[in-house]
Amino acid sequence: MSDREYNVVLLGAPGAGKGTQAKMLSDQLAVPHISTGDILRGAVAEGTELGAKAKGYMDRGELVPDDLVIAIAGERLAQDDCARGFVLDGFPRTVPQAEALGRAMDELGREPLLVVNLAVEEDEIVRRLSGRRLCRDCDGIFHIDDEGVTDGGPCPDPDCEGELYQRSDDRPEAIRERLAVYREQTEPLIDYYSKRGVLVDVPGEGSPDEIAERLLPAVRDRS
Ligand code: AP5
Repeated sequence: MSDREYNVVLLGAPGAGKGTQAKMLSDQLAVPHISTGDILRGAVAEGTELGAKAKGYMDRGELVPDDLVIAIAGERLAQDDCARGFVLDGFPRTVPQAEALGRAMDELGREPLLVVNLAVEEDEIVRRLSGRRLCRDCDGIFHIDDEGVTDGGPCPDPDCEGELYQRSDDRPEAIRERLAVYREQTEPLIDYYSKRGVLVDVPGEGSPDEIAERLLPAVRDRS
């Protein structure tokens, strides 16, 4: 196995396809997929203290406070399975989080960081989020327009057939709030990382496989 490091951040609006692409990319690079959204949803489902603190913010489509998220990301990045890198999905999403990630990378003696911006038009984002369905058993990410996906039906993966559900923050008012929060607090990171010369733009329109075919070479060439 290659000993190259792949320290990848996927940046993009809610519904840009970060989770879908992060799963594929982390398999291809053999590094862990770290989603702060998944970690927080896990904490809510388990009823932990972190989950209790995060739930209200998440349901309203607001960001969870920086200090909580920086602590969970820092702990996760220091784990042994991140020694050859990671695909970060949903972190950082504020300038203080980006600064904290920079400090953590320095402390862990890690470089370089590559930030991929997945750009998708707003109409398509709303279509993707309002139709998203997730599987409780295999964690698969689907869309109501995908073949074999129906409301009330099982996971379309024949090896799974688990229960599909809709995220509580995929309601129209939460989607509107998440997009507003993205524009105000996360979009400035495009400029932040661009100025540091570590940003690459990958168009996020097209099928998931088409995007994956653009993403992998972009990451391999720049890491
Ligand atoms: P998080 O879970 O990170 O949500 P998000 O950023 O809003 O992103 P999503 O998971 O909604 O979308 P995605 O880009 O991963 O798209 P996906 O691949 O699923 O965060 C949730 C909440 O947690 C936040 O609002 C906040 O409260 C909190 N939080 C998390 N991290 C935080 C942080 N760092 N700081 C503070 N708070 C934090 O795809 C979406 C849909 O589109 C699916 O249905 C999929 O099947 C479909 N799709 C994907 N790709 C394509 C394609 N190419 N063509 C057509 N359909 C596609």
